[in-house]
Amino acid sequence: MKVTKAEIVISAVSEKQYPDGNLPEIALAGRSNVGKSSFINKLINRKSLARTSSKPGKTQTLNFYLINDAFHFVDVPGYGYAKVSKREREKWGKMMEEYFTKRTNLKLAVLVVDIRHKPTNDDVMMYDFFKYYEMKVLVIATKLDKIPKNKKQQHLQQVINTLELDKNDTIIPFSAETGEGKDAAWNFLQQYL
Ligand code: GTP
Ligand code: MG
Repeated sequence: MKVTKAEIVISAVSEKQYPDGNLPEIALAGRSNVGKSSFINKLINRKSLARTSSKPGKTQTLNFYLINDAFHFVDVPGYGYAKVSKREREKWGKMMEEYFTKRTNLKLAVLVVDIRHKPTNDDVMMYDFFKYYEMKVLVIATKLDKIPKNKKQQHLQQVINTLELDKNDTIIPFSAETGEGKDAAWNFLQQYL
């Protein structure tokens, strides 16, 4: 897709702030600092529309980005960051559950995992949550630029095995540094738009 227009619509913390209308939404999910916001930026060719940081916990709200006046990317706060209070975690859980279980505009969840590492228990829980609610999931195995080329299959397989990825689900190796996997990601997303 050629992105000609991309703008932030709202940073929401609760349902009543979500945008009106029935444009389709594609939401990100994944560990803090894994590269969710960077994924959005790379896809839409904007260096920092979605704010990123080398420190975990940058994204704190549900950020709705309107793309080509046609659909929303929804950037979400990550999970699994140790330095978060119990209260913060509960707030996160409530916000995520409200969005992912009730939002009818939501067409696809993009679960971003780090291709270098075995997915964490939280990653597995997140994937299982999506499957439980019978949602469509795309897995993005990001930071591909950080592993040697000849290790790619081995690392992908580790992700597939640990998540117990459904045969019908797609996984795409990706790098926000090099743009590898970007066309494959767009091709996949297109069917939900
Ligand atoms: P939170 O908002 O805290 O949940 O994090 P996030 O998942 O949105 O991560 P973000 O996109 O902010 O990226 C975190 C860090 O990882 C930043 O320093 C990025 O530059 C870096 N990063 C993201 N994707 C890639 C990638 O594909 N390759 C490399 N080398 N670095 C990446
Ligand atoms: Mg972020």
